[in-house]
Order: sequence, then structure tokens, then C-alpha cells
Amino acid sequence: MKCPYCNFDDTRVIDSRQTDEGHAIRRRRVCDSCGKRFTTYEKAELMINMVVKKDGRREAFDRNKVIGGIIRACEKRPVPMAEIEKMGERIERKINSLGKNEVSSDYVGELVMDELRTVDQVAYIRFASVYRQFADVEKFAEEIDKIRMSNKTKTQEESGPDVLRIAIDGPSGAGKSTVAKAVAEKLGIDYIDTGAMYRAVGFKMLREGVGAEDTGRVERMLNDTEIDFRSGRIFLDGEDISAGIRTQEISEAASECAQIGIVREKLVQIQRDIGHRKSVVMDGRDIGTNVFPDAQFKFFLTATPEERARRRFEQLGGKEQDLSYDEVLQDVRERDYRDTHRELNPLSMAEDAIEIDSTDINEEETINEIYSRITAEH
Ligand code: DC
Repeated sequence: MKCPYCNFDDTRVIDSRQTDEGHAIRRRRVCDSCGKRFTTYEKAELMINMVVKKDGRREAFDRNKVIGGIIRACEKRPVPMAEIEKMGERIERKINSLGKNEVSSDYVGELVMDELRTVDQVAYIRFASVYRQFADVEKFAEEIDKIRMSNKTKTQEESGPDVLRIAIDGPSGAGKSTVAKAVAEKLGIDYIDTGAMYRAVGFKMLREGVGAEDTGRVERMLNDTEIDFRSGRIFLDGEDISAGIRTQEISEAASECAQIGIVREKLVQIQRDIGHRKSVVMDGRDIGTNVFPDAQFKFFLTATPEERARRRFEQLGGKEQDLSYDEVLQDVRERDYRDTHRELNPLSMAEDAIEIDSTDINEEETINEIYSRITAEH
């Protein structure tokens, strides 16, 4: 800190003490140039968290409201009030730790479900049925099946090395995400779309105008970035961005940021943390070769560039009308080139991966092929 008297660049702290009320630190400083002493106070700057509701209205975050929702879900369940209060506290702390002044009500709902899932599964189903607006008993049955499967895998997780890691790598447009999601659902474990993580970072870099060459800014941005997956949606700093990251512009931004060393380091770390905690199906480019070289199952899903371009062209369905089939094909080829030729963890098939060419088989057949190979051995 500069000296307020002579403007010398540095001053020394000679004493630090808490103020009486304990919410601030009082420091005595001395300037080594003019010798003057002065006092500073350091206080936390608290943000007011606003919750953005589905209809766009905003209201201040209120822990008691969250607790009220949890109490309703826990009615006549053996969940002590102290535990409910702790859940409210953890949720508030998580929101504060984002360092944002706005979060979506969807995100708050997902945090409540995460808490309830581990504390009381009946309360979880009750809350989810209201929050996700289950329309019929089928939806309840589906959710209960998932809980049954995850109870089974949890028993495996507790035994450590049995955490199941399934890697599905391959070029863009090979159908990895649809297949990986379906396989995870059938197994009752989580699906992690690592491409969506690179898209999230690309999205934030574009939004904040951070250039790939400015590694200092990229690093600062990453240190202030939180990426979460909840119920198949991706949240960037508490905001559900799932709907906005599938555009051509974000594909390019993702491909570019996937070449930056510190971006890969940070994302691979998050991916490993997730895969060490719980069983997952993870798809991407370097899962079997770099993120989890010890994954129990590795698949490499391919299709010809023409077929992948055809699927992508159909998927765009006129949304990006400017693009012809030939342009999409050109884009697929360019992305293949970038993904396979980049310096850091390029796309390549792990030696022990099973290659599945989906050019002439449909999605269902691909899913069944992968699922049956897993269940035959596991
Ligand atoms: O799978 P996708 O198209 O959503 O991936 C977006 C970009 O992220 C793509 O250009 C490749 C890159 N990526 C990567 O480098 N490593 C991964 N594990 C996943 C994606």
C-alpha cells in the first residue's frame, strides 16, 4: 500500500489486531521513506445475492425460504431440524463462495436437491417432484430407478478403487454425448460432458473479451470461474448456460481455448476430482489417454467426416441457415485437424480402447453395444 503522506510505493505492517466487534482487522503501518505511521482497517465486502426467478423477476436470497422448502419436503421424515439448518447454511455458503451477486433459482433448486439426495431420498423425491414438475407416476418411477442404481454404485464407491470410470473419446459429431448420456442413465451413474466444459470457458472468454494470447487474464478469469454439472445441465458461475453453448461461434471459441495449457490444466483437474469421487461416464477427446488412463472401460467412437457433417447439418436444422452442407463438412475437417494436431493432449485413440465406428449403425445400436460390453464384464 502506498504511503498517504509522501506517496512512497511501499509501507510496512508493524501491528495487526482484530477490532472489538471482530469483523475487521486494524493494522498499523509505517512508511520506510518518510517514517510516518498510520492505521488501516480491512473489512469483508459482503455481496447481496439476488435470485433470478424463472420469469426473470429478482429477489434477495433468503436462507429461511430455502429452509422452508426443505422443511416441507422433510415433513414426517426422520431429519432433525439441526440437519435442515446445516443444509441451509451449506447452500448459502456455496452461493456466497461463487462471488456473484446473482444466481438463478434453478441453481438454488439444484443445490437443495444435491443436499436432500444424500440426507433423505424420500424428501429428495418429494422436492424433485414439485421442483421439476413431475407430470405422472412414470416420472416418479424413473427417478426412483435412478436412486436405486446410484445406491448400488455408491456401495461400490465406498470401496474406493471400484469407482467405475468409463471414457468415451472421439472426434466431434460422432454422437459421443448422446451415447454417453444414455449409457450413464442405464447404469444409474453421472454423465460428464467435458466438451461442454471447454465450451463454458470459451463462452466466458468471449463474453468478457479475454483473448487466448493474454494468458495472465485467462488465468485470472479461470481462478474466478466455477463450473458445475447438475441434472445434465451445465452451470457457469451459478448460471445455467446449457442452452447457449451449442452455436458455431462457441464451438470455435471452445476449440481455441482447448489449446491453452492453463485451461486444460484447470479443466482436467476438475474432471479428475469428479471421477475420483464418483462413478462416471465421461466423454471428450483425451479422457482415455490423459484424464483417466486407468479407466476400466475406454471406447473410441468414430464415423466418417461426411457422416458426421450430415448429422450436424441435420441437427442445425436451419438454425444457422447461412451454413451449407459443404461448409459444415469443411468445419468438421478443420476441427478434426485442430483436435488431432494440437500440441497438448491431442485427440488419439488409447491403445486399450475399443473402437466403435457408428457410420452405418444407429444410435440405439451404438448405445447397446457399449452397454453390453460394460455389463458383460462388470
Ligand atoms: O465435444 P465438443 O464439440 O463439445 O468439444 C468442444 C471443444 O473442446 C472441441 O473443439 C474439442 C475440445 N475438447 C478437448 O479438447 N478435450 C476434451 N476432453 C473435450 C473437448
